[in-house]
Parts: sequence; C-alpha cells; structure tokens
Amino acid sequence: MKDTFYITTAIDYANGRPHLGHAYEKVLTDVVARHRRLMGERVHFLTGIDEHGQKILQTAQAQNKTPEELTNEVAPLFVELCAKLHISHDDFIRTSETRHKDVVRKILSDLFEAGDIYKSPYRGFYSVRQEQFVLEKERVDGKWPEIYGEVVEIEEENYFFRLGKYKERLVEFLHGNIFVFPYFRQKQVTEFLKDPINDLCISRPKSRLPWGIPLPFDEDYVTYVWFDALINYISAIKYGTPDFEKCWPVDFHVIGKDILVPAHAVYWPIMLMAMGVPLPKSLLVHGWWHISGEKLSKSSGVTVDPFSLAEEFGADALRYFLIREMNVGQDSNFTAELFLSRYNADLANNYGNLVNRLLNLSGKHLPDGLATASVTEEPEAEVKQLWAKTEAEIHELFEGFQFHSALDRIFTFITALNRYAEIRAPWKLAKSDDPEDRKLLETSLALLAEGIRLATVACLPVMPETGQRVLGLLGETVPQTWEGELTWSDRLTGRTFGERAILFPRPRT
Ligand code: ME8
Ligand code: MG
Repeated sequence: MKDTFYITTAIDYANGRPHLGHAYEKVLTDVVARHRRLMGERVHFLTGIDEHGQKILQTAQAQNKTPEELTNEVAPLFVELCAKLHISHDDFIRTSETRHKDVVRKILSDLFEAGDIYKSPYRGFYSVRQEQFVLEKERVDGKWPEIYGEVVEIEEENYFFRLGKYKERLVEFLHGNIFVFPYFRQKQVTEFLKDPINDLCISRPKSRLPWGIPLPFDEDYVTYVWFDALINYISAIKYGTPDFEKCWPVDFHVIGKDILVPAHAVYWPIMLMAMGVPLPKSLLVHGWWHISGEKLSKSSGVTVDPFSLAEEFGADALRYFLIREMNVGQDSNFTAELFLSRYNADLANNYGNLVNRLLNLSGKHLPDGLATASVTEEPEAEVKQLWAKTEAEIHELFEGFQFHSALDRIFTFITALNRYAEIRAPWKLAKSDDPEDRKLLETSLALLAEGIRLATVACLPVMPETGQRVLGLLGETVPQTWEGELTWSDRLTGRTFGERAILFPRPRT
C-alpha cells in the first residue's frame, strides 16, 4: 500500500560536468521534498544519471575513452553536486547498475510477449556525422543541411513499441485529469496528441550503437536510451516486488520543459499503460535558466558553475537565489548582478544583519537570558500581525509550488523586523536608566528573536544549513516537522544565545 510521498528528478546525461540547470532541478525537487517532510509526510526522493545512448558514446569516443570510463568519471561529480548543495535524496540511481538493467530487460520481455513490441523494417535517411535519423522535410532545395555531413538512405530492421495503440487512452486520461503542473504545459501535450503518432522505435542495431542495454529477445540490438532511462523511476523502487507499492504511483516527476513532450507526457504514460502500472500522479515542469554571457566570472567573480558558486557564497545562498528568482514553470535569467544583489540585499544586509543585531544586543544587555515581552504597543502588534498573515500565506504558496513568492513574503517579514528594530532602537534604550525603557528593550529583543526563529523555520526547505546554524544560535534544535513550529510563541524566554556569527560574509569582490 502506498504510504510514501515519492518524488524524482530527471536523470542527467553523464557526458559532462553538472551545470546550473542540473543544480536548479535538484534544488527545486529538494525544496519540495523537505517541505513535505516538514508537513509530516514520509518521503522518498530519487535522483541519478543517464548513462547509455549515443551522446555518451560520442563524448567518450571524442575523449578516447570507453563509455564506462567516461561515466565512471562523471558519476562522482553528480553525487558530489548533491552533497555540496545539501540535496536530501534517499537514492541515487545509475542506469548502468544491474538493478536497473534487470528491470528494463524484464519489461522488454513482458511487452514483447504481450505483442506490444514488434519487429519491422525501418527505412530512412541517416546522418553519419550526427549519428541520427533525419527527416525528408529537413532538406532545403533538395540538399541536406551542412551540419549533417554525409546523409545516406538506410534500411534496417528494428523493434517498435505500439504507442499508437494506446494513444486514445492517453488522450482520454488527459481530458479527465490535471496531470501537468503548470497546467498550460498540459495543453502542449494535448496539442501534440492531435496529430497521429507513430509507434516508437525502441532498438538500435549494435553494429551502429554498441552501447546500451541489449534487448533480451535479440542480442544484436540495444535499447533506445529514452525507453531505458524512463524506467529508472520504477527500477529504483524495486518494480516487481511488494516494496514498489509503497511509493508508486509517483507523486511528482520533476523535469525541465524540454523533456515533457514526447518523453514524459507520451512515451512514459503509454509504457506504463502497456505494463498495466498506474500512471504518475503529476509532472512538475520547470523552465530553463538562461545565462547572460560566458564572461560572468571575469567581471564579477560570479561564475555559472554550481560548484564554485556554492564554494564562494555557500550552498544556501545559491539555493536561495535559484528558488527566489525562478517562478516554477517560467524561464529565468542568471546574471552576476542579480545574484550579487540578492546575496547582498536579502541575505547579507537584511537577514544576516538582523541575526547579528540580535546576537550583539542580547549578548551585551541580557546576561541573564532573553526576558519576557511585557510591552504590547502598536509596533509590536504590527509585527505579530504581519507574521500571522505571512504564516497563513506561505502554507498555501509552498503547497502550490510558488516558492519564489513564499520567500518574498518571508523576506518582507524580515524587512519588517529590521524596521521594528529601527523604531524601538534597543541600542538607545540600553543607555537609559528608566525601567520603562528597560522593559521596552527586553520586549524588542524578545520580539526580534522570536521573529528570527519563525522566519528561519519557514525558510528551512530552502536554506537548511542556515536554519541549523541560526536555530543553533538561538538554542533551538531543527524541528522534524512544522507542526506547532510556525506560530508565535515565547519559547525563547530565558535563553542565552550563541556568539555573534557572520551568516553571509561579504563576497571577496
Ligand atoms: O534530458 N535550466 O538529461 P539532461 C533548467 N537524460 N533546467 C535545465 C537546463 C537549464 N538551462 N538544462 C537542462 C536529459 N536542464 C535526460 C533525462 S529522464 C528519464 C532523462 C534540465 O542532462 C533538463 O530540462 O540533458 C532536464 O530536466 C535535466 O536538466 C537533465 O537534462
Ligand atoms: Mg538536455
């Protein structure tokens, strides 16, 4: 029986270093996973790499390596990226693993026996240079585009999967269900399905592509890489054993917009239909990061390499930026100016400075620990009201993947806390002998401390490392769930806090 929220990323091609797009997808998925855990759900989070197919073979050949040598070099980089970015995945799959290949071959056998895979001659034009089939309609004035080099007409036997047989079922399913988030992308799928679809060629002759999973019923062929790769989502959770039912159907496949149609929205659901397996609950489709210029690093010290960004600014700063700047589903621009401005304005000056102020003032003026907030005047009431509103809003925003807006609300609250600090000016109150001023000093620090605690707990899905540090400074442990953690309280009364800490140091630029 399903008892686990199951979420996956795409598996990245293991033919080069991970890039910012890969980093984003992992962070986004991680934010969802962490949010669900905080909501008390049991979560299984899968990520991994895609090791077969032409791209991998070509890259390996260009580097004078075997494909195994290449992917064995690249795999640790993806694992390292996950660690560097505090990705909380539960499993990392490589499609070269036996556990995966066995499931792929089992499924191929089943579908072949059921008659959903058949052999047929295939005729077409093939670009030797690009190692891919090209279409008649790509010819311009009878000539093939230059990039294809020599184009030959070839005829070879191949194996086909009966996509067409299930097409109407898929159309009906999409008609009755919200399957793709954001929904406008589901319309792209429906649009695609208006035209007839061909059966899918799922084999490549070994003579042409000697790298892939051999077909169990004909060892002269390997499996087409997409047919192999999509199966990772079920091979990793032990398809064919009772364990499988704990996770499946998957709650969200998180993918980029380029691999929605036809791979995830047509091939995959139809493969599952043919296997008699329930369809995924949803696809969460994100947009793309566009990078403004390769020169980034020279001018500003900001690179687009996720490793150096995390190294230089901290993983949480990168996570914050990616989640704050991307409206899930849309595209976004990565520029050095924007990155530095978010880092400086939001993290260093707003949040970091607020935490510093509190630790500084409480260290100096509250040797016996945080006192009770005994004064409630308008400034205090406003801060608490703003939090109540923020809390109500962020639940809904997190639930609806509007993470950029959730962060916007939380940081608006942090801004309000800094403004409150300016209004009460506890550093001035500390100089007064008036007992009323002392009360106000104690009240203002109690308010700031609780406000920081709440904002920090609310940011945990996005900034887990910072959360641990700040909560540690406040004498709190990191909560396992949000239950009872996001409402205003006086739980910090009596606490003495840790030493001043620079959360987001000024960058070296
Ligand atoms: O497509 N911005 O692998 P991949 C945001 N192996 N996301 C980006 C991006 C960018 N600039 N560039 C890539 C594959 N991505 C297949 C997937 S799944 C069974 C097989 C995203 O390494 C992209 O949209 O080309 C995809 O979701 C993921 O990175 C892996 O891309
Ligand atoms: Mg790609």
